[in-house]
Amino acid sequence: MKKPNNPIGVFDSGVGGLSVLRAIREQMPSEDVFYFGDQGHVPYGPRSMEQIQNFSEGITRFLLGHNSKIIVVACNTASAAALKYLRETFSDVQFVGMEPAIKPAAEKTQTGKVGVLATPATFQGALYASVVERFAAGVELFQHTCPGLVNQIELGELDSPKTRAILEDALLPMLEKNIDTVVLGCTHYPFVIPLIEQIVGENVRVIDPAPSVARQAKRLLEAEGLVNSSSAKGSIQIFTSGDVKIVEAVLPKLLNESTSVKSVKWKNDREIR
Ligand code: DGL
Repeated sequence: MKKPNNPIGVFDSGVGGLSVLRAIREQMPSEDVFYFGDQGHVPYGPRSMEQIQNFSEGITRFLLGHNSKIIVVACNTASAAALKYLRETFSDVQFVGMEPAIKPAAEKTQTGKVGVLATPATFQGALYASVVERFAAGVELFQHTCPGLVNQIELGELDSPKTRAILEDALLPMLEKNIDTVVLGCTHYPFVIPLIEQIVGENVRVIDPAPSVARQAKRLLEAEGLVNSSSAKGSIQIFTSGDVKIVEAVLPKLLNESTSVKSVKWKNDREIR
């Protein structure tokens, strides 16, 4: 039986989902949050759909084992590869997933040209094709997978020359095509918004979907009567299948609250207890 004081479970291949956690903290400060970063397998982007489904299933079991009342798949790649599968496999669990924010971009663009940055798995998934089909009529989309960018962000290199070069490779050709909107279709990328804004200039709008995903999670909790009404600030617990020290070193650059990181021993997509 789920209870209002149970935590919200959030996961990503790595630190990217912290951009969603940040929005959850802003909108629902009294909620406890359990966050799982699958640094043992990051990046997900170049992996097969089946592998990402297995990882996502194992992580969902872990978060449910910690009594999560709702699961936020704070990863576009895992949402593209596994959200449908997770909803079928855990039919009594509420999931909130990510999809590239093509709809608001298509509504707002003046030039009719929009850049989309996301991983290869996200672009290949049926979810992206369906979003494009439903919302992008009459809009020209320019897609780029930004190879290496997820790893740079995992290392906390938010404004190094290499990170800038990856973004310039993606964005400068799009600017030549006259885009006026950039959709961030990977939850890692909001951490380099300052750098993206330096490259694209102030006339290009950058869309981070994290606030609307947090709003959706809030709506679902309200509808289920599962909002934590405590006046105390909720806690955050961060777990990783990778190296705790590396994650702890990068956290201060990504979150403005301090928290420790716990290691989860992971083998064959499951926790070893
Ligand atoms: N943060 C991820 C996303 O939203 C995953 C990136 C990756 O692991 O390749 O797509």
